[in-house]
Amino acid sequence: MTALEGRSALVTGAASGIGLATAKILAARGARVMLSDINAEAVASAAEAIREMGGEAAAVKCDIGDERQIRDSVARTVEAFGRLDILHNNAALVRPDISAADTDILEVPIEVWDAVMNVTLRGTMLGCKFGIEAMLGNGGGSIINTSSMYGVSPPLLMPSYCVSKAGINMLTRHVATTFGRKGIRCNAVAPGLVRTPAADAIIPRPFAEVHENASALAHQSTPEDIAHVVAFLASDDSRSMTGEILHVDGGTTSHLATYAQARGLGG
Ligand SMILES: NC(=O)c1ccc[n+]([C@@H]2O[C@H](COP(=O)([O-])OP(=O)(O)OC[C@H]3O[C@@H](n4cnc5c(N)ncnc54)[C@H](O)[C@@H]3O)[C@@H](O)[C@H]2O)c1
Repeated sequence: MTALEGRSALVTGAASGIGLATAKILAARGARVMLSDINAEAVASAAEAIREMGGEAAAVKCDIGDERQIRDSVARTVEAFGRLDILHNNAALVRPDISAADTDILEVPIEVWDAVMNVTLRGTMLGCKFGIEAMLGNGGGSIINTSSMYGVSPPLLMPSYCVSKAGINMLTRHVATTFGRKGIRCNAVAPGLVRTPAADAIIPRPFAEVHENASALAHQSTPEDIAHVVAFLASDDSRSMTGEILHVDGGTTSHLATYAQARGLGG
């Protein structure tokens, strides 16, 4: 893997799970990393932990539901590190109360639908907007958005979440198409089930086991498994890739819907 020395990165939702793992891996590969999160205390400790490991990192509080905070967090990154080369738009509105209410389009309170669109989709779009503006100032960069297997194929529930992630997929292709000739690449990772605080709080264990049973690979994906793919997309090793939605889901979306049952029958 090509080193990321001299690169400046901003990761949203970096206090926990996939964002935290990404911030650590980018820093370990030599990037200067700004960790942003709605949880100011947790993100400050996460940046401190990276500095203790010898990495270069700083923290900023940012709720991606707030346009001004997103603009300011990009500005803080450029101020701290002089440029922006890598942006991982990873944060999303993933809260147990929101997910519990996100049932189907007959029942979902419109406020829940609006909140998910406002944070997850609009926040990612605004991250791209301010990120692109900054990257144009240094000749380009790489944007990686966190999508989901639910943005590719829907489960029974969570329509707001699924549609917001599907929107992120199209946003990714739009940015890739429109800004590619300006030196900006944009790709997405679509994780399957990853054991993180959010997933554990939102997906009841029996459902999680159904997902695990549908994975083609026997192991469970970790936040680091996703973060390594993000780091690849951030680096010049992926310099010819843009507009891709990479399924990092252990093969969960790669096969026929009958796969898990058929495996049980030995076929
Ligand atoms: N864990 C999974 O199974 C899974 C699967 C597919 C996609 N994802 C996606 O991965 C991303 C990260 O999720 P995770 O599982 O690592 O969760 P996590 O709970 O471990 O981490 C999410 C982080 O985002 C922060 N956050 C929440 N709302 C925010 C906001 N409005 N602004 C800024 N930060 C905010 C939280 O404080 C937390 O630190 C999300 O986009 C999620 O949709 C997760």
